[in-house]
Amino acid sequence: MLKTEQEALVNHGGLKGIIMCRYRAKYALIFLILATSGLMFLLRNILTLEKLGWRNSSGAAFAQMRPAPPYQTHTFCSHLGLEPTPDEALEDRYLLKAIAWPKLPARPAPVPLHQTSDPVHSLFTLLPSKGQKEWHVGDQLEALVHMHDFLGSPKRHGGDFLVARLHSPVLGAGVAGQVVDHLNGSYSALFPLLWGGSAQVTITMVHSSEAVAVLQRLREERPNRVFFKSLFRSGKLSETTTCIPCLPLNYPQQPLCNYTNLHTGEPWYCVKPELLSCDARINHAMGGYENPLFTNQEALLFQSRINIKVIIHTSGPDRINVLPQKIDETELESSTIKAESDKYTPSGYYYQGAWRPLGGTSVRQFNDSSSITQCLTGKVIHMYGDSTMRQWFEYLSAFIPDFNLHRTKNVGPLMALDFKNNILMNYRCHGPPIRILPVSTSELRYVADELDGLAGGPDTVVVFSIWAHFTSFPIEVYIRRMRHIRQALVRLLDRGPGTLVIIRSANFVAMDQTTSKHSSDWFSLQIDTVLRTMFKGLGVVFVDAWEMTLAHHSPHNIHPPPPIIKNMVNLILSHVCPDKKKS
Ligand SMILES: *[C@@H]1O[C@H](CO)[C@@H](O)[C@H](O)[C@H]1NC(C)=O
Ligand SMILES: *[C@@H]1O[C@H](CO)[C@@H](O)[C@H](O)[C@H]1NC(C)=O
Ligand SMILES: *[C@@H]1O[C@H](CO)[C@@H](O)[C@H](O)[C@H]1NC(C)=O
Ligand SMILES: *[C@@H]1O[C@H](CO)[C@@H](O)[C@H](O)[C@H]1NC(C)=O
Repeated sequence: MLKTEQEALVNHGGLKGIIMCRYRAKYALIFLILATSGLMFLLRNILTLEKLGWRNSSGAAFAQMRPAPPYQTHTFCSHLGLEPTPDEALEDRYLLKAIAWPKLPARPAPVPLHQTSDPVHSLFTLLPSKGQKEWHVGDQLEALVHMHDFLGSPKRHGGDFLVARLHSPVLGAGVAGQVVDHLNGSYSALFPLLWGGSAQVTITMVHSSEAVAVLQRLREERPNRVFFKSLFRSGKLSETTTCIPCLPLNYPQQPLCNYTNLHTGEPWYCVKPELLSCDARINHAMGGYENPLFTNQEALLFQSRINIKVIIHTSGPDRINVLPQKIDETELESSTIKAESDKYTPSGYYYQGAWRPLGGTSVRQFNDSSSITQCLTGKVIHMYGDSTMRQWFEYLSAFIPDFNLHRTKNVGPLMALDFKNNILMNYRCHGPPIRILPVSTSELRYVADELDGLAGGPDTVVVFSIWAHFTSFPIEVYIRRMRHIRQALVRLLDRGPGTLVIIRSANFVAMDQTTSKHSSDWFSLQIDTVLRTMFKGLGVVFVDAWEMTLAHHSPHNIHPPPPIIKNMVNLILSHVCPDKKKS
C-alpha cells in the first residue's frame, strides 16, 4: 500500500496508466448510466468531456491555459489570492533570496550536451588537514571538486547541484557534507570528523547546472504540469473536470468553480462541470501530467546513469583514517570550535546505525513496546501531511492499536487508540494539492484549519510533513501554505502553551528523467530551505529527513526504509519524553 502511493508520487508512467484505467472504467460507467437515461444526455455529455480535454493525453486543456510570454515570474500563481501584507511581501523577498540559485551565463542558444557538466569527467581531491597528513576527531575534512564537461574542459561557472556524504560502512556511520559553490566550476565539500576510524567521501552530482536551469523554468512557466481532477455527482449524473491552484493570467473565459479557502485565501479551482453545479464536487484526485515538457535537447540533460545522481570520482584517495581527538588540545579546541562560527555543523550523524543529533537532545532507543507506551502515556498525537508522515503513524501503530475507520489506508484519516494508557494518535492528509487516490471532499481539510480546532497543551503533540505534493508548483504556493500553518501554530501555542510541535523536512527521492520533472530533489531542496527559514526561532523541533536520508547508506526513496523511520521515531519520542537524568 505504501507502494501504491509511491507510484502516485514517483512512478509517473505507471500512475498515469492507473489513472487512465480508472478513469476509463469510470467513464464506461458514466457512459452506461447515461445511455439508459437518454440519448440526448449522452451526446451532450460526450461533447462536454471532449471539450475538457480529458480524452487527450497530451493535455490539450492545458495547452490553452499556459500563460503567454513574457512570463510574470513570481506572480503567476499568486495574483488571484489575497494581496500579501507589507510584512509578508518583505518575507517573500527574503525567502526568495534564501533559495536563489546561481544563474547560468547568458548565451544566445541552448547549451549543447557536450558543454554541460559531466560527472564522469569531473574529479574531487581531499585537501590535507591544516597542511598535515593527519586527521583527528573534531577536525574538518575538505574535498575540492572540479567540474568538467563531456569533452573534459573545466566548467567556469557554478550552479551544479552536488551532494556529499562521509561514511564508514563498517562503523555504520554517515554524515551529510556541506557543499559550497565557488561559482567558478569548483566546489568545496566540508565534513566534520565525528568518529574515529575509517571515513570515506562520496560526492554525487544530482543535476548539472544546465539541468537545474531547466527545472527552474518548468517550475515558473509550467506550474500546472501536475494537474488534478474532481468528480462531480448528483443523482445519476456525474462529470469529471480538471482542477489546479494556479490560474494562468490569460485564462480563457471558461466557467470555473472557485474553491479558494475562505480562511486562508489559498486558491483552488476546477473547471465548472457542464451540467452539474459546483456544489456537486465529491472528491479530489490526481489528474495527470502535462506533456511534453522537455525539448529534445533538454531531455539529454536528464539521463539516468549519465547525469542524474551520478557519483564523481576522486583523483587520489577517497578515504582517510581519523585518529582520536588530541587530548592535550581538547580544551583549546573546544573554545576554538565555538569561535569558528563558519565551521559547518550538520544536524546529526549515524553511528552504529543510530542517529545522533548534534546540539542538545540525546536520542534514546525505544526498542520495545513498553518503552514506547510509557513515553506516550497520556498524550494525544496529531499527525498531518503526506505519506512520509503516514509512515510514522504506521510505525507507531504497531505499538498502539489502530482501528479500521473504513477509510482508504492511503488517504485516511487514521486513528490509533491505547485506551488503557490514554494514548490517542491521529493521521490526516493535508489539503489539496494531493497526488493520491480520490480524497472525499468531506476529508479535504487544510492543516491550518485543523490546527485552529485544537486546544493544545503539554499533553498535545502536533507533527507534520508537507512537501512531496508541492514540488511541481511555484514556490509561492508553498510559502503561502506554510505561512498559514505557521499563523495557526502561533495561535495554537498561545492557546495551549507547552504543545510540542515537530516538523519533518523533505527527503531525497529516487529519480529518473520523468520523476525529475515533477519531484526532483532540487525542488525539494528549495522547499526545505523555505520551511527551515520560515519556522526558525518558533521553538519547534525539526526532524531533518534531508540529512537523515543523505547520510544513510540506503538508496534514496520517497518513502525512506524502516531503519531510517525507526531513527526518526526514536528522535521524536526522545523529544516527547526527554531523558530526565540528562536534562
Ligand atoms: C490533443 O490535443 C493536441 C493539442 O490541441 C492536438 O494537437 C492533438 O491532436 C490532440 N490529440 C488527440 C488524440 O486528440
Ligand atoms: C575558484 O574559486 C575558489 C574560491 O574563490 C578558488 O580557491 C579557486 O582557485 C578558483 N578556481 C579556479 C579554477 O579559478
Ligand atoms: C475566488 O474566490 C476568492 C475568495 O472569495 C476570491 O478572492 C477570488 O478573486 C476568486 N477568484 C476568481 C477567479 O474569481
Ligand atoms: C534497548 O535499548 C536499551 C538502551 O536504550 C538497551 O540497553 C537494550 O539492550 C535494548 N534492547 C534491545 C532488545 O535491543
